[in-house]
Amino acid sequence: MQAVVKSYHGRPALRGVSTHIDRSEFVFLTGPSGAGKSTFLRLLYRAELPDSGRIVVDGFDLAEIPRRQVADFRRRLGVIFQDFKLLRRRTVGENISFVLSLLDLPEREQQRRAYLALRQMGLQNRLGALPDELSGGEQQRVAIARALVLQPDLILADEPSGNLDTERGHELMELLKSINYQGTTVVVATHDRGLIEAHAARTLVLDRGSLVRDAWGATQ
Ligand SMILES: Nc1ncnc2c1ncn2[C@@H]1O[C@H](COP(=O)(O)OP(=O)(O)O)[C@@H](O)[C@H]1O
Ligand SMILES: [Mg+2]
Repeated sequence: MQAVVKSYHGRPALRGVSTHIDRSEFVFLTGPSGAGKSTFLRLLYRAELPDSGRIVVDGFDLAEIPRRQVADFRRRLGVIFQDFKLLRRRTVGENISFVLSLLDLPEREQQRRAYLALRQMGLQNRLGALPDELSGGEQQRVAIARALVLQPDLILADEPSGNLDTERGHELMELLKSINYQGTTVVVATHDRGLIEAHAARTLVLDRGSLVRDAWGATQ
């Protein structure tokens, strides 16, 4: 990400942010509410384009991806949100197979991936449950499993523990770290200092749209 500027209605949300995240890194993105964390992530998964500056993800210059290939690009990423964004009328298994059906994979490979992702999240016994029958922590694990079945190179999580209690938040971070340990790059936006203090990692700090710190662990 090079000199990235993004404004909404003339008000800058990111004011010239440059940084580099290596393959297989685990990075926290933090800063107060309104600092630009969600904007930073949205630009990375090309939900929108910057006003100026350059963003390269996984070797792709995001401004140069033709519109019809944007969906293909997004499938290389797993995105996780605070509110889980599960399909509420579909079972756990259907939430996962919905994503897999977007890929052109043999049925057996789809089933194998769905099972592995759910097992990694400890959810292999909840295939038939509806999201509302699960706890918040379980729902977020379904969301992670849904991200994992795509075998993404990069996972982006926007306040993923925002609807979880402290303990579930820490468990979630352990899961994301175990995914990272297998080689997937993980970027977690959070304003929760406790999480950052407990899970030492490189931490980018945004403040009013500027990158003000890039160091290991929480601010002093
Ligand atoms: N879609 C949008 N439309 C208008 N303003 C937005 C939009 N998204 C973000 N902003 C503004 O950009 C700034 C950064 O927001 P955001 O990236 O959501 O910060 P954070 O995730 O750190 O809380 C805020 O001032 C916010 O109001
Ligand atoms: Mg946000």
